[in-house]
This record gives sequence, C-alpha cells and structure tokens, in this order.
Amino acid sequence: AESGYRLWMRYDQINDEALRTQYLKSLSGIRIDTISPTLKAASDELGKGLSGLLGRTLGLSSTASIEAGSVVAGTPASSSLIRGLKLQSLAGLGDEGYMLSSMVHNGKQITVIAANTDVGVLYGSFHLLRLVQTQQPVVKLSIVEKPLLKHRVLNHWDNLDRTVERGYAGFSLWNWHLLPGYLQQRYIDYARANASIGINGTVLTNVNANSLILTEEFLPKVAAIANVLRPYGIKVYLTARFSSPIEIGKLKTADPLDESVKKWWKDKADEIYRHIPDFGGFLVKANSEGQPGPQNYGRSHAEGANLLADALAPHNGIVMWRAFVYSHEVDEDRFKQAYNEFKPLDGQFRKNVLVQVKNGPIDFQPREPFSPLFGAMPKTPLMMEFQITQEYLGQATHLVYQAPLYKEVLDADTYVKGKGSTVARVVDGSLDKHALSGIAGVANIGDDLNWTGHLFGQSNWYAFGRLAWNHQLSSENIADEWTGMTFSNVPEFKVSLRGMMMKSRENLVNYMTPLGLHHIMGWDHHYGPGPWIKDKPRMDWTSFYYHKADSVAIGFDRTASGSNALSQYSPQVRKFYGDLKTCPPEYLLWFHRLPWSHRMKTGESLWEALSQRYQQGAESMDPLIAGWNKLAPYVDQERFDQVRMLLAIQKKEAWWWHDACLAYFQSRSGLPFPQGVTPPK
Ligand code: GCU
Repeated sequence: AESGYRLWMRYDQINDEALRTQYLKSLSGIRIDTISPTLKAASDELGKGLSGLLGRTLGLSSTASIEAGSVVAGTPASSSLIRGLKLQSLAGLGDEGYMLSSMVHNGKQITVIAANTDVGVLYGSFHLLRLVQTQQPVVKLSIVEKPLLKHRVLNHWDNLDRTVERGYAGFSLWNWHLLPGYLQQRYIDYARANASIGINGTVLTNVNANSLILTEEFLPKVAAIANVLRPYGIKVYLTARFSSPIEIGKLKTADPLDESVKKWWKDKADEIYRHIPDFGGFLVKANSEGQPGPQNYGRSHAEGANLLADALAPHNGIVMWRAFVYSHEVDEDRFKQAYNEFKPLDGQFRKNVLVQVKNGPIDFQPREPFSPLFGAMPKTPLMMEFQITQEYLGQATHLVYQAPLYKEVLDADTYVKGKGSTVARVVDGSLDKHALSGIAGVANIGDDLNWTGHLFGQSNWYAFGRLAWNHQLSSENIADEWTGMTFSNVPEFKVSLRGMMMKSRENLVNYMTPLGLHHIMGWDHHYGPGPWIKDKPRMDWTSFYYHKADSVAIGFDRTASGSNALSQYSPQVRKFYGDLKTCPPEYLLWFHRLPWSHRMKTGESLWEALSQRYQQGAESMDPLIAGWNKLAPYVDQERFDQVRMLLAIQKKEAWWWHDACLAYFQSRSGLPFPQGVTPPK
C-alpha cells in the first residue's frame, strides 16, 4: 500500500521509456569499492535507487573496471581510479562536501561521485538519485556542493516511555524496551532519509529530560541506535538533565562549581564515550519552565554550559545550550528575557558550546520576528532552533509548508554589521567568523506509518534538511524537489502543488493570528483558538498577555512607550518595526498597541483589516481543497485520501478559528463586521 512510508525515496520506475533509455546511457552500472559501511550504504542506495528508477538491475563492481556509462563513486582513499583523477575541486570540499562530474576516462564517458570522505560520497549519491528522481539531466554534470552549516541536527522531544512532547505522529521511534537487541528496519530508513538531505546529528530525547537516559540501563540502547546511524553520517546526542548528579549520581548538589559535580560529569562523559566513541554531545534546557539549572545554585548559564563542555571537550563533544528561558517572576516582557539573560554572557562560553536560540522571541508562533539574540552575541556561535513539528500551526492536521517560515527568519537582516547581516549569516558563522555552526529542527517524526502524521509534514522535514545544508535554496525549489520525488514530475502537477504549498503558511497565519497577533491558542495544548484565556496561574500563559485587547485598542506595545523590546534590535530594525509608516502589517500587533479605529495603509480600520484577514484565511481553504481534488489523477488513492480528509478537517477548523476569534475580538471592540465578513456562528 502507498502509506507514505517511503517518504521522498520512492525509486519507482520512471514511466517515460525514452527518458529511461536516455538515463541508462549515462548510468548503466555502479562502480564503488565498498570498503566501509558508509560506502556500502552509498552502494546499496545507488543500486536500489537507480535500478528501481531505470527499471533494470544495474551491475555493481569495483572502480577497477569501468565501462562507458559507469557511475564511479569513492574517495581518493577508497578508489585508485579516483585518486588517479587528481580532482582539483576536492581541496575545497571539506569533510562533507562532494562533486558530481561527467568526464571521459580512458576514452569512456563516466559519471564520478567523489569526495574527501565516505559520507561525502553518500551525500553525492543521494544528489545523483535526486537528479534522476526529479528527472533532471545527468549529462555534462559539474556540481560541487558542501554544507554551509556544520551541525544539522534533529531534536526529538521523545520521552523514555515513548510519548512525544508536542509530537503528533504516533509514539517515539525509539523502542527502548526492545533495544539494544532488536533493531528495526525503520531505524535504517530514518537514517537514509536524514542522510539524503544531509542531516548529520540527532538528539534522541526530550529537552525536558529524564536523567535515566544517562545510566547503564539506557546507554547500551543508545549505542545500538548510534551504531545503526553511524554509516549514514549521523551522530547521536542526548539531552542532559542538569540535576542528574543528584538523581542518578547520589550527590547532594548539582552546583556547577562544585568539584564533585565536575568530576561526576567528567566520569559520566567518559562512560558515555566508552559506549559511543563518536557521541555528539549534550542538548540542555536549564532554568526554563521548571527545569533545573545552574541558577538553582546562583550560577550563570555560562557556568552551567561550561561544566558540561569541559566534560565533553576531551572527546570532542559539544554542548548545545538552549536560550529558551523566561520567567513570570521577572517583571519584564517575555519577549525580552532570553536576550537580557544571555547577551551579558557573550564571550563567557567555552569553545565547544553553541547557544541554541529559537527562531523567534516567544515560542514557534505561526509568524514571529527573528529573535533579537541573533546578532547580539558575536563572540558566541548561535545555533538556530526551528520547530518542524507544528505545535502552534495546526499540529499534524493542517497542511502548512514551513520552508517560507524558515526562510523568512534566515533571510531577515539584523543590520548588526550593516546591511546584509542576515540571521543566516549569524547562524552559519560567516558574519562573526565562527568555526562552529549549527541548526536544529524539533522533529515531527513518530511511528505513524507515514512518519509525520500529515503527509505534508514530510515536506517540512525535507525542507528543514535542505535549508540546513544550504539556506540559500528557495522555498519554491525545495517544494518542487519534494513533490517531484514524493508524487509526480508532471509539470502541471508540480506547478499547482507548489502554488498551494507556497500559500499554505500565510493562509494559516490569516485564520489563526493575522496582523502580528500571537500566542492566542488554546491553553497548554496549543491546538485550537483561545484568545479569551485569561485566568491562569501565570500571566505569561494567558492569551490576554499577548493581545491585550480591550474596548479601545489591541496589541502589545513594544516600542519605547511600552516594553521597549525593540531596543534589543539594531537601530535600523528598531526603526523599521517601531515606525508605523514602515512596520509591515504582518508584524503590526507584535510591536504596537493600536486603537481599533487605527487607519491601515489600505484605508480600512484596524478592526476591519483584522476581520478581513480572518475571512481571507477561512476562505482560503476552498481553493486549496479544489486544487488538491484536481490533482487526484497524479496521486495514488491512499495518499490522496489521507490529504483529502485532513483538508476537510482543516477547513472546518479554519472556520472555527475565524468564528471564535472574531466573536471574541468583537466582544472587545464592540464594532460591526465589515461587508464581506461572515458573522461568526
Ligand atoms: C514550548 C512547548 C513545550 C516545550 C518548550 C521548549 O513551550 O510548549 O512543550 O517543552 O517549548 O521548547 O522547551
């Protein structure tokens, strides 16, 4: 059945026979010396992929014997043929890059996939497969690729009981009960999928961590997963609960400056590396939402991070220390708190620490301005944290293609070193010349047959990986690649689906949180609307805290007359958002508190504009559904129906948002609905 299990690695035979014949001329056999598990993985993938796509089992042998049409893959170390080619471009490709090159060797036309390392060869193999999967030419190839970011990591928020925090695609992939003995095929397919898009690390456990993962009960299980992922170039990381020395180490304290605590973490790191020699390191959520941390002992985040960094350093491990901190006990706009806390620590972190910053200042909203920390800590490598799982974006029920969201943040200009100081350049290290760089995506993957619950959740996993590799790719191109590999390469199909995907995120913003509204979702589960939520133990967990709507006005004043969160940005950004003349409507209520009668540039009042956006959002579902129905001929029944049914739910819920938010905000504004806006039921 076509459940979607194969993701974008489908390798079904290309229908067009002429095209197949053409491909077979250039790709008639595979030549690779499988002297390592990684080269074996590349060979398996090329064999399976090309044979499937081209409808013929391709001969496989060593690079010693080539023919016209051979695909020759390897490194100078694995293959004397490749060594003999003395490829100039290899010099600049580092340890993950690769080249794909059509050339004539001993009078024979061949295709070379070459890299300095085995994993580079694997990445190059996937690239070649992608070209065929998306029906691109493979003659006259001259491609060189290397990733712009060093650590490209998934964050699984998976608990040891296999529930997944903010996971909507079933239970955790990691079957701790059956590990280490039982290794599911799914682990291998997970590794293949990630390698195909260049993801090179995975944090197996929830940021709200359980210290048991660091015990002898679990470490052999972690090692078993690491062994499966290793050939695919993927390192395993774990979350470290800061109080572990107390909970599993029987110490009285977890104070980072305490000698016994330091020794405990050093010993623990040594122990982990005995199980997993290439263990990646720790991801830490500390002093955030009730998690323990260095501040419990009056120490700073830097002192906490450095404790773990010192323990990992002898093994080349890294610490990804999260900046997602806020407290209701601090009388300060939540927007500002991470910056206030972390900026003063710039320069105090060890060399093997990255500070991992969520894309926006609050929490993975449908739209957020970029976090002001990007650009504010030049001495510290900042790791981007995106959320792939759609906690606030309709979870696994709504079709939302998130590449435009990711791009919007990456392309945003911080102006900290003048025009062109984009968030992407902060994150990739080029702006401040950092060798360490990274990006994390909170995974949307579970044990559902199709991995991500919504089939289009796969596109977000895919897009995250592609942008992690190269943030300069366009959302459109990534959508085209994904639809071509996942469904069909028929141009009309790709163009229509691209259009639908490209609009999907803005549609959602319109029916959920238009004009810069944020965090008005239902309490705690964050699924449906909840702008009325007011009476909660913490103000920052109410919706009112964020929209502040009353009979006169709506929005959060973050200019100098309000919380002045804008002061955390560089002057250009501050002015751009702070000035009503330039602040785009998309960010209006993020930064301004305005009367309902405020005139928008379009001439309508704020109340009218808000109502119209909700209307547009809800109405956007009909064309989306009609668009999908038209694509039925190109999609197998099972996957077509999955999406069709979810779109029907999404439509109902878009109207639910429309009705609930308009009814609520009208109860504040007391104004009539403008023409064309459907009154809430
Ligand atoms: C959000 C999410 C939590 C999660 C937290 C985090 O607040 O709702 O479930 O633990 O982010 O990123 O740490």
